[in-house]
Amino acid sequence: MRWQIIVSIFSVFMLFSCNSKIDSKKYSEIQKKGNEISNIAQTILLSNVGKAIKKGGPEYAVEFCNLQASSITENLGVDNNCKISRVSAKNRNSENMLSGEVEKSLWEIFENSNVNDTVIQHNKKLIFYKPIIIGAPACLMCHGNSESEISSATFEKIQKLYPNDLATGYKMSDFRGLWKIEFEL
Ligand code: HEC
Repeated sequence: MRWQIIVSIFSVFMLFSCNSKIDSKKYSEIQKKGNEISNIAQTILLSNVGKAIKKGGPEYAVEFCNLQASSITENLGVDNNCKISRVSAKNRNSENMLSGEVEKSLWEIFENSNVNDTVIQHNKKLIFYKPIIIGAPACLMCHGNSESEISSATFEKIQKLYPNDLATGYKMSDFRGLWKIEFEL
């Protein structure tokens, strides 16, 4: 198992090393910023979803697990001069689909290893990625088993808003997605 991870990390490294290498100081700086920004965005998102669930149940809260639902995350991007998004191989919103071969390779690495985060250089950007885990039972109200964990009202609303939804059937601790924070070089 371990050698496979090493080979995959090596092959992704090869993909990017053709560009130019990120020096270690820049790497650490972006890694630190990416972690800080994604932690704040996650806290805001969880707090908004939690408040909405309290107010009107999960069917009401469906519209709150969206980054654009909060102007605070938008300001966070503007203040830090970066673009904040989330991507997944099993995406709910079609805008959150993995883009390109590089991102697909990265996804496989995160899926098969315990890498905490990474920074890559791509098309004049430095991009920070960090896994998003199904870390709370509340996630299952909208991403769990569609027959036993998601209420029918919630499921109906999800299907209406996202007819191509792939993001159900998760269990606690599953790998759900990646934070993607893009910084212009
Ligand atoms: C009330 C319902 C609800 C809850 C609770 C919920 N989500 Fe979501 N989740 C959604 C919806 C709706 C979207 C699509 C948002 C959008 O339009 O960008 C989504 C999108 C996502 C995405 C972006 C990728 C994609 O599939 O589009 C991730 C990652 C994610 N959720 C993780 C979580 C995690 C982790 C939790 C628990 C901490 C959680 N969600 C709790 C409804 C929910």
